[in-house]
Amino acid sequence: MLSEISLNRVLVLALALASQVSAQPCDIYAAGKTPCVAAHSTTRALYSAYNGRLYQVTRGSDGTTADISTLSAGGVANAAAQDSFCASTTCVISIIYDQSANANHLTPAPPGGAASGPGPNGFDIAASAVGAPVFLNGRKAYGVFIEPTSGYRNNAAKGTATGDGPQGMYAVFDGTHYNSNCCFDYGNAEVNNDDNGNGHMEAIYFGSNTGYSTGTGNGPWVMADLENGLYSWNTTGPNPNEPSSTSRFVTATVKGKPGIWALRGGDSTTGSLTTYWNASRPSPGYSPMSKEGAIILGIGGDNSNGAQGTFYEGCMTSGYPLTASENAVQSNIVGARYSVAPLVSGPAFKVGSTITLRATTSCCTGDFITHDGAQVNIEAVTPSSPTSLQQQASWVVRTGLGNSGCYSFESVDTPGSFLRHSNFQIFLNANDGSKLFSEDATYCPQTGLDGQGNSIRSWSFPTRFFRHYGGVVYLASNGGPEAFDAQSLFNNDASFVMSSGFATS
Ligand SMILES: *[C@@H]1O[C@H](CO)[C@@H](O)[C@H](O)[C@H]1NC(C)=O
Ligand SMILES: *[C@@H]1O[C@H](CO)[C@@H](O)[C@H](O)[C@H]1NC(C)=O
Repeated sequence: MLSEISLNRVLVLALALASQVSAQPCDIYAAGKTPCVAAHSTTRALYSAYNGRLYQVTRGSDGTTADISTLSAGGVANAAAQDSFCASTTCVISIIYDQSANANHLTPAPPGGAASGPGPNGFDIAASAVGAPVFLNGRKAYGVFIEPTSGYRNNAAKGTATGDGPQGMYAVFDGTHYNSNCCFDYGNAEVNNDDNGNGHMEAIYFGSNTGYSTGTGNGPWVMADLENGLYSWNTTGPNPNEPSSTSRFVTATVKGKPGIWALRGGDSTTGSLTTYWNASRPSPGYSPMSKEGAIILGIGGDNSNGAQGTFYEGCMTSGYPLTASENAVQSNIVGARYSVAPLVSGPAFKVGSTITLRATTSCCTGDFITHDGAQVNIEAVTPSSPTSLQQQASWVVRTGLGNSGCYSFESVDTPGSFLRHSNFQIFLNANDGSKLFSEDATYCPQTGLDGQGNSIRSWSFPTRFFRHYGGVVYLASNGGPEAFDAQSLFNNDASFVMSSGFATS
């Protein structure tokens, strides 16, 4: 067996050769003798020679699917193909293909010991295809925006580590999209959707959960989900060597081999990785490990599905990657030049302006979104309606409370109160300043699904839109389980024409 030092020499040589064909992450791991056994990305090829399908989208209009592939070998996803296939309807990411030869594809996760999803047969739902637009070297692509109850899994993965076998993983996340719920994970988990005890998982976690260990500050943190514990080191409490990850794009790595594991992280757009931990495992139950080899994304091993986060790319290896391989992967990610892309489209909303939102369904083209206390309805309003009703139908456009690339809508007659969703219905509530309220009150309008005005997509649940149904305004998904999710008239009911307000603030 080669020592780490001689392997490093081999790697330097291999990388020198590989750089002539601009080595991608899985070429880099392969050069270090820890090849990828699963490689997932909706944004780009993770092998320089990979030229094929990255993910599958399913559209709401007719339930048909399309594979979205690379633009070229080693290249970025063909986002224009998605935009064209999904024009004037909704789309979800129904398969994330494995770029390795193992065909370890990810599909919506089955129900588990902790939770079921709202999808058919209790499965989790597929992620919106448009929730996480991004640029790579100036080319548009889409990440996987996991809203709570969304998640992916493969319980029959080939080549992944089992027992105490060595493995490594990396992933690129959105550092501003997280919560403290369990568990936004990517990596190795149980094959039966249950919590089988300490050491039955070894996955990357990203979020602000404080139930086990943490880093310093308020989070979010990169940690390892080792099952029955999210760890930043070998014990509970704050690991003093790990800061909160506050960059917009975050690279995370976790690797484990008998008796040792390491956790590293950094800014995906600049600089190198910092090692947060590189020593023993927690105890008891984590040495030896009992890895099972399934692959999860966006959920915990028992299908705990209350977390949120965005995944752009990641892989799992066979063998314990060299530090030099991880460093080279980080350089490659920096070179991919991830940057923020616009979340909105269609007629422009001007921050500070007062607007009305008029329904476009043929039943109700004289109806506007209004509030009656906390209740939000559609109702006929005209310039001769009482001033109080005109004000109830008027909204001030604000910069999105939860994401500055989107908007929030403040009531004209109840300043400090905003349109927000709760249990998938829209309400007018006072801003309580919480992270949850900010996110519930943030909307990313897009060109109207029926070709008129805008459809008002939730930032935090991008599979869902403002939709009037029975006179009430809901946050509806196209074809979801509730009556207000009905596919019939969805595009019309979810499109609103924005005009200048009846009343000024
Ligand atoms: C945790 O790791 C530190 C540093 O390697 C070591 O001194 C300590 O004994 C370990 N604690 C446990 C509980 O293994
Ligand atoms: C982890 O520690 C080992 C020695 O135990 C060292 O060879 C390796 O470079 C370290 N890795 C990192 C990422 O610091």
